[in-house]
Amino acid sequence: MSWHPRQLGQQTGRTFVVTGANSGIGFEAARDLVGRGAHVVLAVRDTTKGETAAARLPGPGSTSVVELDLSDLDKVAECVKRLVDSHDNLSALICNAGIMGGPYLFTPQGFERQMGTNHLGHAALIAGLWPLLHTSAARVVLIASNEARRGLLSPRTTREELFNPVPYNGQQVYSNTKQANLLFAQELHRRCERAGSPVISVAVHPGAASTNLFARQLERAGRVSLARVTKMVTKVILPSAASGARATLRAVDDATPSGTFVGPARFGQLRGPPEFLDVYPSASDPATAARIWELTEQALGRPLPF
Ligand SMILES: NC(=O)c1ccc[n+]([C@@H]2O[C@H](COP(=O)([O-])OP(=O)(O)OC[C@H]3O[C@@H](n4cnc5c(N)ncnc54)[C@H](OP(=O)(O)O)[C@@H]3O)[C@@H](O)[C@H]2O)c1
Repeated sequence: MSWHPRQLGQQTGRTFVVTGANSGIGFEAARDLVGRGAHVVLAVRDTTKGETAAARLPGPGSTSVVELDLSDLDKVAECVKRLVDSHDNLSALICNAGIMGGPYLFTPQGFERQMGTNHLGHAALIAGLWPLLHTSAARVVLIASNEARRGLLSPRTTREELFNPVPYNGQQVYSNTKQANLLFAQELHRRCERAGSPVISVAVHPGAASTNLFARQLERAGRVSLARVTKMVTKVILPSAASGARATLRAVDDATPSGTFVGPARFGQLRGPPEFLDVYPSASDPATAARIWELTEQALGRPLPF
């Protein structure tokens, strides 16, 4: 029988951190969790947008907003400090925020912006929060994509190919970031298992959902009219952001084991109820995962958990 969000049950007394919770899939996941009584921390790069989103989450749970710019490792560290200072227990960290495509831009630390945001920023957040995640026996949920199938990362990937690819193909880099999310979730699961850590690592692909993701890349490229049309078209042809959030909700269900990859399986994995899926061949090679882990540690200049 298909999994339905009603199976998640009440979440009163639990705290969830959701990155990029001001819009799209992250907002819908937050809405559902707050509706079940949870406290949701909206970790957002624009706190005004975050407060506006929080005001649209009526309860019975509660919300707070924390500033988080994943594209800047210094800002990630500031966010970690705020979260650690204000929480002594987390049920889950949902690494949802993401960007797709657009021109070749760099983070303040000099990494290509998509990889710097989607993968590296989240890796830094997980590493910074690790003691809290570990003592809380928390869930770490990484939102990948079925685009991860097209990722080209391998055990031979160089630091330049991962973080400063030339020539630049924005769509390919997006696929690589989502492959990195999926690889990272698998590797984290394996390392937790080996170390006997209670942390649970789950990867998600939301299928296709009508969000700002598609129009944003056009806006960034200065194609404002096309962005406007894209917004209208995606609203008509794609499933809602709420249906995109269902896989995230299944990922935080206590019945979902560590190492699982959750997502819709129908219509080329674009829609349908969230199911437990086989990890794509592009992300099932432990040697590739270990390589991305190693390059990530080098880029962060600090060891990741274990
Ligand atoms: N929509 C789909 O069909 C689809 C399919 C596969 C995977 N996904 C994945 O689903 C996740 C959510 O995306 P979405 O579709 O819901 O798109 P969205 O509506 O554009 O949401 C993306 C969120 O990420 C935030 N964000 C972007 N850059 C950030 C940064 N540097 N620091 C912190 N937050 C940042 C955005 O904040 P601002 O509002 O401030 O920009 C926004 O809240 C992404 O990881 C995406 O790759 C989506």
